[in-house]
Amino acid sequence: MSKIVLLGSGELGKEFVIAAQRIGQTVIAVDSYENAPAMQVAHGFEVINMMDGAALDAVIAKHQPDFIVPEIEAIRTERFYEYEKQGIVVVPSAKAANFTMNRKAIRDLAAQELGLKTANYRYATSAETLQEAVAIVGMPCVVKPLMSSSGKGQSTIKTTEDIAKAWDYAVAGSRGDVVELIVEAFVKFNSEITLLTVTQNNQPTLFCAPIGHRQERGDYQESWQPARVSDKDLFEAQDMAEKVTEALGGAGLFGVEFFLADDGVYFSELSPRPHDTGMVTLANTQNFNEFELHLRAILSLPIAEITLEKAGASAVIAATADSTAPTYSGIEKIAALPKTDFRIFGKPTSRPYRRMGVALVTESLETPIESVIEKAKAAAKLVTVHP
Ligand SMILES: Nc1ncnc2c1ncn2[C@@H]1O[C@H](COP(=O)(O)OP(=O)(O)OP(=O)(O)O)[C@@H](O)[C@H]1O
Ligand SMILES: [Mg+2]
Repeated sequence: MSKIVLLGSGELGKEFVIAAQRIGQTVIAVDSYENAPAMQVAHGFEVINMMDGAALDAVIAKHQPDFIVPEIEAIRTERFYEYEKQGIVVVPSAKAANFTMNRKAIRDLAAQELGLKTANYRYATSAETLQEAVAIVGMPCVVKPLMSSSGKGQSTIKTTEDIAKAWDYAVAGSRGDVVELIVEAFVKFNSEITLLTVTQNNQPTLFCAPIGHRQERGDYQESWQPARVSDKDLFEAQDMAEKVTEALGGAGLFGVEFFLADDGVYFSELSPRPHDTGMVTLANTQNFNEFELHLRAILSLPIAEITLEKAGASAVIAATADSTAPTYSGIEKIAALPKTDFRIFGKPTSRPYRRMGVALVTESLETPIESVIEKAKAAAKLVTVHP
């Protein structure tokens, strides 16, 4: 049996720990605050600032894990190369975690080294160079800090008046030591998808059925599986996912994000770990959910096949206010619905828009996916988070 140090202990980590517990693995959950969701179900926990390399070293030295499983991006991932040298498996690989914590590394790898189709882009390190970059990629364009997630610091520039604002907003939303931005041409996509891609040790790469999602303020609101994608687009997305995951190396589940537009499929970004939109698989849409797949790939347990069993949708249950003791109402209402399930993550505090739970709905594969999404949205609305 293996010992796993989980870096990041949110709701995705919690489901991963539950999957690991079910087959007898030992997990130490780490985050910056106590009583984080994954800590509630792990064997042990550590509270550190994961951007602090020395603190990270100390936790790894103390627990001597077989595997380090990152759940978030904001980690001193440069240290991962050293842990790999010590013989610890960083999941999926030190390179994958390190390259994806900074949009520049992964974008240059995808667009330049691998030749994947992406939105035209430039980088900027000042308000002036941002102006030059915007002139090159054109308007409208999307500005993002190189190091940020959940849409933090992200804005769309439509006119030259927006440029100064976009700079200030991105600087304020930036994490890490350096302030640098990426400016991307706005892709007028018809839909966006996450392709959960599983790389295995000495076994072929597998794909889950595509997951559609809708974003608001940088966070997903609903996700559904299967997304309606043409065979041609799906094949292209799979081809790109296979190339980029192979270049990053290692075994595990990746969430590869694409935009589907009239002129084809654009690679956007990826998570080298379970993806929030992949929570739809908690509705048992597949034979294994994304956390079970991640775990199996990590442990080199063969995955014979991934089968889509049902159509499903997830809809986020979000808080509306700050609280250090959030409570919930409407649970009995959502529980009463057929073909519906839910998760409450048990986060100790809330703030406006914070994701606190998720509603999960399944239907037969013949059901139009739009009606499954509507059911999930209606189900999520039944639950209220109170401060
Ligand atoms: N170039 C673009 N053109 C059009 N829309 C975009 C573009 N880039 C990002 N978006 C929109 O913003 C969303 C968030 O962007 P992105 O995934 O790059 O940011 P993020 O902060 O890493 O988000 P997360 O960590 O939640 O996945 C995308 O899912 C998409 O809806
Ligand atoms: Mg994203």
